[in-house]
Amino acid sequence: MYDLIILGGGPAGYNAAERAGSAGLKTLVIEERALGGVCLNEGCIPTKTLLYSAKIYDYAKHGADYGVTFGSASIDHGFVVNRKNKVVKQLVSGVGAKMKKAGVEVVNATAFIKGRDAEGFTVVAKDKEYVGKQLLIATGSSAALPPIDGLADSLKSGFALTNREVLDLKDIPKTIVVVGGGVIGLEMASYFNSVGSKVYVLEMLDHIAGATDREISELLKKEYAKRGVEFILGAKVTSIKNNSVSYEKDGKVSVIDADYALVSIGRRPRTQGIGCENIGLKLERGAIVTNELGKTNVPGVWAAGDVNGKSMLAHTAYREGEVCINNILGKKDRINYNSIPAVIYTNPEVASVGETSETVKEKGINARVETLTLKYSGRYIAENEHGNGILKLIINNEHNNVIGLHMIGSYASEIIYGAAMMVETEMRVTDIQKLVFPHPTVCEVIREAMFE
Ligand code: NAI
Repeated sequence: MYDLIILGGGPAGYNAAERAGSAGLKTLVIEERALGGVCLNEGCIPTKTLLYSAKIYDYAKHGADYGVTFGSASIDHGFVVNRKNKVVKQLVSGVGAKMKKAGVEVVNATAFIKGRDAEGFTVVAKDKEYVGKQLLIATGSSAALPPIDGLADSLKSGFALTNREVLDLKDIPKTIVVVGGGVIGLEMASYFNSVGSKVYVLEMLDHIAGATDREISELLKKEYAKRGVEFILGAKVTSIKNNSVSYEKDGKVSVIDADYALVSIGRRPRTQGIGCENIGLKLERGAIVTNELGKTNVPGVWAAGDVNGKSMLAHTAYREGEVCINNILGKKDRINYNSIPAVIYTNPEVASVGETSETVKEKGINARVETLTLKYSGRYIAENEHGNGILKLIINNEHNNVIGLHMIGSYASEIIYGAAMMVETEMRVTDIQKLVFPHPTVCEVIREAMFE
């Protein structure tokens, strides 16, 4: 009998397990693949490892802009992939060590919820039954794969790839079609563009990068178009087969021949085949319905991470898992979804938090938008020969507090947490004016914006 059984050992599951185990709860994590989930094994960490190699390669190629020249730069994709595997292995074993330290038991198997009785919830894994007083479902998400003509066979043949297979290609493709210009698509388009592939991005909407501030997503698109990425917007993919991708745009069907097609058109919560129906869990569009405490409709059953379909970000998952455990332990805690930062690790990076110029209009919020070039920062100019990054601040006119911040440019991914803190704590412009920012840094532009 366990106090808590956690289904899934990704960011939501393993972080929750560590908190629960450390607090003295007898905790079991059941993970079918590897601890760390998509984030550590086939998402955040591997992509950042690849992208960092691409960044160094780009720096080498453009060294002359800064007075540094090399014989000729080259990139060894095989080495990059091996290094990625080494990084992943190190981090996954680190999670294992954390589980051990917190006294958490880990079972490597697929979990299935069999039912509940007076004792608790019964979960089956590898033909063994485990009973837990409470359950935390953190089974994550998987790539959305719609019924596009030829897609199923192309996935089998290896022509079509998801976020999983794309990270282990043996060679650099000559041509790759990225279906879906969202976060995964753009990060991988960035990598393959840097390492020399011809990249096409087919996007259904009239813009890339989803809900990102439109001015910023336009700047990102322009930058990559300049580097040779071909963006085809308003495109409906009709087939992925025989090493080609067909799409319809403005009533006309076109075909692109390629070595690979990456399908990155969103993710679906993993709620099928885990026995949700056996305990009467409420789902909406395939996601487990939770409140801001992480509670589901079934007392004693909690859900965190992508499986609730809310934010689908690893950092949200950490926090959601933690919130569940705090509430299980009787400590009041809730998650605030308004101040969750988001980053796209292209080069330049894009980072954002809170309201955008578009959402304030939609919601009728009385707000002003301050847009500043990052050239206000001496460090930005020193380090970005052809940079045209910007920062956009969204300020609520009624309370004069920051409700959103969006950036494209260097260090955006590291700067955004400070902005998230401003949004979360509802800091007013006058409070931020009194903060001392380190000089010279790119984040100083935030301070500059406060005096506009
Ligand atoms: P996404 O939702 O970010 O983007 C999918 C894109 O595909 C959208 O722009 C959508 O309009 C487009 N699309 C949908 N159907 C299409 C079709 N049939 N043809 C062409 N385009 C189509 O999803 P993505 O990129 O797959 O990422 C999945 C999840 O992983 C996201 O929730 C994201 O937040 C997360 N993620 C986060 C990262 C980060 O924080 N840096 C990195 C990578 C993924």
